[in-house]
Amino acid sequence: MKKRRLGRTNMYVNPVGLGCMGFSHAYGEAEDRETAVRIMKEAHALGYDFYDTAECYTGINHDGSISYNEELVGEAVHDFRDEVILATKFGVDHKGDHLELDSSPERIRRSLEGSLKRLHTDYIDLYYQHRIDPKVEPEVVAGVMKELIEEGKIRAWGISEVDEEYLRRAHAVCPVTAIQNRYSMMATWYESLFPVCEELGVTYVAFSPMANGLLSGQFTNESQFAEGDFRNHMPQYTKEGYQKAKALLDMIKELAEAKNCTMAQISLAWMICKKDYIIPIPGSRKLERLKENFESGNVVLTPEEIKNIDEHLAGMDFDVFGGH
Ligand SMILES: NC(=O)c1ccc[n+]([C@@H]2O[C@H](COP(=O)([O-])OP(=O)(O)OC[C@H]3O[C@@H](n4cnc5c(N)ncnc54)[C@H](OP(=O)(O)O)[C@@H]3O)[C@@H](O)[C@H]2O)c1
Repeated sequence: MKKRRLGRTNMYVNPVGLGCMGFSHAYGEAEDRETAVRIMKEAHALGYDFYDTAECYTGINHDGSISYNEELVGEAVHDFRDEVILATKFGVDHKGDHLELDSSPERIRRSLEGSLKRLHTDYIDLYYQHRIDPKVEPEVVAGVMKELIEEGKIRAWGISEVDEEYLRRAHAVCPVTAIQNRYSMMATWYESLFPVCEELGVTYVAFSPMANGLLSGQFTNESQFAEGDFRNHMPQYTKEGYQKAKALLDMIKELAEAKNCTMAQISLAWMICKKDYIIPIPGSRKLERLKENFESGNVVLTPEEIKNIDEHLAGMDFDVFGGH
């Protein structure tokens, strides 16, 4: 598998990264610490070298205590810290069902110190602004990132769920290495940013690349999810949403059979083969699925096959979480 360069840095990673969020956040009760750490360590042995977490990825453990995702990731990568690219995020607090945004310079610095401590490290490789904070200009955030890079606390920075204007303004102050936006066969609206990524030399890290698991073909609207699992409220898992996705799922299944691989692998290979600056970061708590996802980097889809998929997608309409 050929590694991919992160932006214009000297950091290179395999084409599939590890989304760590689900070990403690958004998918029901948190995974127990020992199991989560073991799986994330084993993921490295499989080839994963790009770990994604965030300050706000917290959840509830079986005993009622709080699970801090950064702590799990920090413990998992401790023995091979220099062999992986560690990405985390600042600027978001989950308050009930809404997000509280704070990207003020003071808050960023406080968040960074907390993340370094929880991750047991003295530097972050890629530090993302998790969401745009309308109260703070991009130039101000970029100015703080510039200082943090100069201080050696972070190596590079990125922005999640960014639009073109914000990206350009921020990039002009301190070059942005990566954006991290939603992207999957069911969520293609940010393709409009591809030309900007190409022009500025910015990597596109794709989050929720399997539409929260649906594109793996392993779940339907009748799947039972645990209490606290966000999929209970996602439109793609309603009867109507699933019906709308059915034609796509059938197409992916057919392709997977033809390529002798799995549906999850087709859904990831589609974006990996489309652009060499796209890096999906699927997440799973199951090691065999992490292996399957990682190996999608070996599945080859030709430009003709990708074009054919895209032509089908253009005629489809989906109900998907985060949809525009
Ligand atoms: N920047 C942001 O705002 C943002 C937002 C959301 C997510 N993220 C990042 O993106 C990462 C991934 O996103 P995500 O979890 O939302 O979506 P995803 O990767 O599209 O889907 C994850 C779900 O799919 C299932 N799954 C994964 N691989 C599978 C496979 N091969 N076969 C069957 N099921 C499979 C997992 O279940 P099991 O655990 O049961 O396998 C999990 O429920 C997160 O971990 C996080 O790091 C970032």
